[in-house]
Order: sequence, then structure tokens, then C-alpha cells
Amino acid sequence: MNILAFAGSLRSGSLNKALLRNAKEAAPEGMEIEIFDLEGIPLFNADLEKEGVPERVNEFKEAIRRSDGILIASPEYNHGMSGVTKNAVDWASRPPKNPVMMGKPAAIVGASPGITGTARSQEQLRQTLKGLDVRCMASPEFLLYRAKEKLDDEGVLTDDSTRDFLKTFMKEFADWVSIFLNHKD
Ligand SMILES: Cc1cc2nc3c(=O)[nH]c(=O)nc-3n(C[C@H](O)[C@H](O)[C@H](O)COP(=O)(O)O)c2cc1C
Repeated sequence: MNILAFAGSLRSGSLNKALLRNAKEAAPEGMEIEIFDLEGIPLFNADLEKEGVPERVNEFKEAIRRSDGILIASPEYNHGMSGVTKNAVDWASRPPKNPVMMGKPAAIVGASPGITGTARSQEQLRQTLKGLDVRCMASPEFLLYRAKEKLDDEGVLTDDSTRDFLKTFMKEFADWVSIFLNHKD
């Protein structure tokens, strides 16, 4: 089972990128996670698309196309998803007739230093993905609140109960993706 993961942040010290690295560690046997860095994905512009889709965007879309499922770490900016997240989804929503994300199973996670743990950004992203017929796992939800207290300087989760729950979450995600894999056969 191949999962394509991306975080809607470009910063090297991103809490959300760190969360994805931990999710990769927590993944059950048989689940491979490729983490795609959104650095180099330009702002969506239909003129640019007409001239020829940028190479990095093609790499992103291809990585999604060959995956069995998608894992998104969604930072929260001003009570919504980051522009980086939305921009990536907008590129992946093209061409509108057969977008690469359509029908894929997905899961959303997120990390923030505050107490709401990206709840609002996750909800907004879920709504956007619904429009693309992306099948988001509804439950359980994974919200890494007070993330700076739970990650060490290298971005490794130090909180035991959070680490355990991340394992449970990833196992549930594997089960969710399996439903769609079996359906394909
Ligand atoms: C412009 C801006 C708006 C933000 N708005 C929120 C917010 O509404 N809710 C929240 O929990 N954190 C908010 N934050 C804090 C982010 O959660 C925090 O910067 C987080 O580390 C960003 O994700 P990253 O570490 O993956 O880059 C905001 C940060 C910025 C820069």
C-alpha cells in the first residue's frame, strides 16, 4: 500500500512536516509513505497551465496518481488551511474531467502550537476535498495540539500517549485505504 503524504507548509522547521515524519514511523507494516515537499510548486495560474504544466507540479500529480491513498498534514492559518495546502490541492484538481485525486482515500492530520490543533483548518480542507470526491476518513481525527510541547528539537514525538494514538490512527487509515484497494480488485 503506497501513500503519498504532503504538508501544507514550506518551512524547514515545520511542525506539520515533523508530524508526517512521525506518521511514517508509526505506519503499520505494509504501508509505505512517500513524503512530497511542496517547495517549488508555483501559485496556480491557468495561463501557466496552458503554456505547459510546471515540472514540479507534474511530479506532484504523478506521485498522487501512483499512490493508493493520500495523507495531508494541514497547518492552520487564520482559522483555515494554509495557502500552500489550498494551492497544492488546486493544482491536483486539474484537469477537471479526471483530476488525480478523484476517488482516492485520504486522511488529514495537523499540528499547531495552540490548543485547537488545526481543527478548523482540517474541517475546511475536508470540505474542499469533498468537492473532488476525495474519500476522507472521518474518524478517528488526529489533532496535534500544543505541538511544541510534544515534539523535541528534531521533531520527534516525545509524548508516549500521542505516539501510541498516532499508531492507532495510521492503522485505521490503512484499514480505510484497504477498503478501496479491495473495491478495485
Ligand atoms: C499567518 C498565520 C496565521 C496563523 N493562524 C493560526 C490559527 O488561526 N490557528 C492556529 O492554531 N495557529 C495559527 N497560526 C500558527 C500556526 O499554527 C503555526 O505557525 C504553525 O507552526 C504553522 O505550521 P508549520 O509549523 O507546519 O509551518 C498562524 C500562523 C501564521 C503565520
